[in-house]
Formats: sequence, structure tokens, C-alpha cells
Amino acid sequence: MRISKLVLGISMALGLSMAAHAAEVEVLHWWTSGGEAKSVAELKKMLEAKGHQWKDFAVAGGGGESAMTVLKSRVVSGNPPAAAQIKGPSIQEWGDEEVLANLDGIAKAEGWDALLPGVVADVMKYQGKYVAVPVNVHRVNWMWANPEVFKKAGATVPTTWDEFFVAADKIKAAGMTAVAHGGQPWQDATMFESVVLGVAGAEFYNKAFVALDAQTLNSPTMIEALKIFHKIKAYTDPGSPGRDWNLATAMVINGEAGMQFMGDWAKGEFTAAGKVPGKDYICVAAPGTADDFTFNIDSFVMFDLDDKALQVGQNDLASTILSPAFQEIFNLNKGSIPARLNLPMDKFDDCAKLSAEDFVSTAKANTLVPSMAHGMSTFSSTQGAIYDTVTEFYNSDSITAEAAADKLVKAVAAAQ
Ligand code: BGC
Repeated sequence: MRISKLVLGISMALGLSMAAHAAEVEVLHWWTSGGEAKSVAELKKMLEAKGHQWKDFAVAGGGGESAMTVLKSRVVSGNPPAAAQIKGPSIQEWGDEEVLANLDGIAKAEGWDALLPGVVADVMKYQGKYVAVPVNVHRVNWMWANPEVFKKAGATVPTTWDEFFVAADKIKAAGMTAVAHGGQPWQDATMFESVVLGVAGAEFYNKAFVALDAQTLNSPTMIEALKIFHKIKAYTDPGSPGRDWNLATAMVINGEAGMQFMGDWAKGEFTAAGKVPGKDYICVAAPGTADDFTFNIDSFVMFDLDDKALQVGQNDLASTILSPAFQEIFNLNKGSIPARLNLPMDKFDDCAKLSAEDFVSTAKANTLVPSMAHGMSTFSSTQGAIYDTVTEFYNSDSITAEAAADKLVKAVAAAQ
């Protein structure tokens, strides 16, 4: 009797202390496709294992444009979530709003500076202090190909834009869709930046999308890239406008289409469908970009909240995100590579291994560039101006490439 009272007392005390630290952690993200949902489920599971509750705040819409709109209205109304998927220079914009929690305490305790590559850590800091924690590194300049489609069409997987049009013509002639594309501004921009990189190289890319140099944006080389980009449209199907990116990936998975230009979150869809790289599908750099790497780092910021239990929850979330176990399982599902240095890659497939090697080698060669389409190279207003110009041009049959380049300069200038 006495013992059971003691046991009851202990378990009540334990229960109370768990409750004192348990928090309902609301997390905003836009990971709703098959592969994405599997990935984020791992984070939920690990946070729950630390005694917290996960409150899902998922806003559908690839690339996160809708999620950002919803987030802004929540923050403006004084009701931010505990954590949100925010990345790139936007982290600085949110830092300026003075709404982010300072994560330096946990960052110092866990030695984040030593765990992260410099290029990743820099993005996570606002005024020298950590305000964000990275989950991964995505590579954007990939092309996903279905080998069966290529075989049926007698085509070869291209490594240059000239070869690309030869292969695309063959696939089209064989009655299949050459390029699976979702006509949404962020997907248009994703394809466009790969064309620019392939046509003009990393130095030009940086001048255009990081330095926003007017002469580069409106140059013969940019006009050439715009022409190639527009020419791809003829190789997409009539169902393309408005299509979600993962449905375009599904077209490559099921052999309806030959190729897709998309970051390696597309691999998450192939993985979720049980497909094996090198056998069921091929990952290659977009034509002309094998020596370059367009990076896109997903990260979470925590909002500055008064609730002590929530602060514990936020720290536990941040710590979970950088743990080797999470970095491995999440990125195996997501298609990306770990953000954390020196993690074993033996469980990863060849596409991820190539990505990890290229991340290091391109950093050395100065051909590692931030993705414009995924908010890594500019503030969101500039990105929006580029999106608008690129999409309008892509969808029009009357705007010339010369006029589009001219407009690009003006739109970018107006957004500064
Ligand atoms: C994000 C990825 C996401 C993709 C499609 C990108 O901007 O970085 O994590 O999978 O959008 O939604």
C-alpha cells in the first residue's frame, strides 16, 4: 500500500514536471506533397518524443508564397506561431521587424558554428546572432529524367541546351511530353534560373541575381537565355498552366513525360513512390550546369514569445532539427542533403552523394550560387519583380526576349 502510494507520488511529480515543460508548438510550413509530408512527419515525431505537442500549420503551395502571405497576417495580428519555415535573405527582413527569438543560447551550448558550413551559418544569423536553424541543403539545378521515355524515343539524356532540344524533339515526335512543367510563377522562375546558369555560368548568374547589375540583366547573354527558356514551352503539354510541381514530377515518374527541371525535393516524390535512382529515374544537372550548384537552404525561425514552456519547446525543436538523427532521416525523405557538416552519407542515394560532393567542390570553385527562385539571392520584393517579368514573358507569344530583358531591369529597379 505504502509502496504504491510512493510510486503514485513519484509518477504524479514526473507528470507535473513533464506538463510544466510540455508545450504545444505550432509550426508553419508548406510541406504538403507526398515526399514533403513524410519528411515533416519525422520532425513531428521527434518533437513529440521530447514531450511536446505538434500543432500543424501547413499552408499548401509549392515554393511557399501562400505560406508567407498567411504568416504575415498572423504576425501582424500579434499571434505568430512558435516556429515558421523562413529562409534566405527574408530572415533579415523578419529580423528587422524585431519579432524573432534569439537562438544564440542553444547555438552556443551546442556549438552550431562548428557544426555548420559557413555559407549556411551566415544565412541563419541576424546581426551576428542565430535566429534560424537549417534543416537541409537543396540543390535546385537538377533535371529529372525517365530513362524508359528516352529509350522509347531513341533520345539521349542531354548535357547541353543544344542536346536538350534534340532530345526534346525526339520525345515529342514519339508522342510523349518532353518536359513536365507546372505553369506557376515560382516554377517558371525555377526553370529560368537553371537556363541562365547553363547558358551563362555562375559569375554571370551572380551578377544578374545577386548584384542585380542592370547591364547584366539586359545583356545579349540574358536575351539568349530568355529565348531558350521560352522555347521550352513548346515541349510542355496543354495541361501545364497552374499545375502543382509534384503532379509534374508524377508525369516523369509514370512515364508520361521525359524530363522535369526542379530542385531535389522532386526526388522526395520519386522516393515516396518507391523509385530507385539510376534505374527508374535519372538525376542529372540541368544542361550546362554540371559544375555549378544552385543552393536552397530550408530553415526555421522561432518567434519571440513570452510563454516559458513555449520557449522550452522552441529550443527543443531547434536542437532536434540539428541532431544527426533528424538530419539523416529528414533528408533521406526530402531529397536534400544534411545542412550539418561531416554526417555519414552511406544511407543516401547516388544523387544525394553527388550533391554533397558538388556542394563542397563548387564552394571552392566559386560556382556555388544562391537560388533566386527559392528566395536565397534577393529580398522577397525583388524576387517577386523577377517572377512577374519571367512569368509574363513565358506565357506571352508577343513579348520579345529583348523587351523582357529591358523589363527585367526596370522591374528589379522599381523593387529596390
Ligand atoms: C522549398 C522546399 C519545398 C519546395 C516545394 C522550396 O522553396 O525550399 O523545401 O519542397 O519549395 O514546395
